[in-house]
Amino acid sequence: MNKNASVKYDTVRPIRWRDAALSLIDQRLLPHAHEEIVCHDVAAVAHAIKDMVVRGAPAIGIAAAYGVVLAARARFQAAPATWKQDVETDLALLAGTRPTAVNLFWAIDRMRRLIQALDGDPGPALLQAAQAMHQDDIEANYRMGELGAALLEPPCAVLTHCNAGALATGGYGTALGVIRAAFAAQRITRIYADETRPWLQGARLTAWELLEDGIPVTLVAEGAASHLMKQGEVGWVIVGSDRIAANGDVANKIGTYNLAVTARHHGVKVMVVAPTSTIDMNMASGGLIPIETRGEAELLALQGQRIAAPGARAWNPVFDVTPAELVDAIVTEKGVVTAPNAEKMAGLFSQ
Ligand code: MRU
Repeated sequence: MNKNASVKYDTVRPIRWRDAALSLIDQRLLPHAHEEIVCHDVAAVAHAIKDMVVRGAPAIGIAAAYGVVLAARARFQAAPATWKQDVETDLALLAGTRPTAVNLFWAIDRMRRLIQALDGDPGPALLQAAQAMHQDDIEANYRMGELGAALLEPPCAVLTHCNAGALATGGYGTALGVIRAAFAAQRITRIYADETRPWLQGARLTAWELLEDGIPVTLVAEGAASHLMKQGEVGWVIVGSDRIAANGDVANKIGTYNLAVTARHHGVKVMVVAPTSTIDMNMASGGLIPIETRGEAELLALQGQRIAAPGARAWNPVFDVTPAELVDAIVTEKGVVTAPNAEKMAGLFSQ
């Protein structure tokens, strides 16, 4: 639950630091079960990230930051003289979990820089840094919510993809932060969420967290998107991102590129909502972004039950890259970039 009374529709928090350990809502089980997994060491955090207990780029970064706290505490206790070298193994373990979400590497790099500057017991300073990162992410989402909601021309319906909500961040969400703020301001007539195969983040997570906050949501199959846009009701596609390149190309959940192509064809606008921690100015363009490929079983089976014909193989890239020219606005906590390009993206960081 948020402590900012002026922000509405904000009850879900996926990550908590409690009793010197990291508690994560197990997102593999939602919406049918609401259970938490408690991580007492860095190996448990790395496993939780890789296995999708916690997912969504900002949430992955925050969980990793708490993972560094657990790692540094254990390494310092075991070997106070060499812990700074020893903890590098743990940072590498965390960095090896998911390759596309740049917030993971952003958070690890920040924690590493702090480690290098520390003397003595690292626990308190690292925990303070992880908690600040967590809180800053929520504050950034509130700001982006306001900025993004102001771009909508009411009344309009919106379509979102995957889950870029409270569950994917410290809280409130990026794309769903905009949708929450716009719903609170009565600027949205209807919210469509596509189911998002194969993990069903739309059907399971986006629908769950919006309904938890009392916001109505209408699910569509991904294949229905063009047909839906042709009806003329949808004004904006609103999505998050795992990594935005220096030229404004956007990596996000597989299927985002499809939506952007069909949106342009139908005169529907595309908004990408992401904190500046998701922007990778070292990546000149989207073609350089590493795209995670996950196991075939995720496509061939549904909740452990094989659905594909025996013998069928699967290709399972879980992100795609939408070229900047198909994006109408990138909303960050530092401001909005319309019709993004390399020059405008650089301008965001020079303010
Ligand atoms: O594979 P996931 O569920 O981690 O993918 C998440 C997404 O693609 C989100 O849209 C993205 O991380 C932005 S979350 C604010």
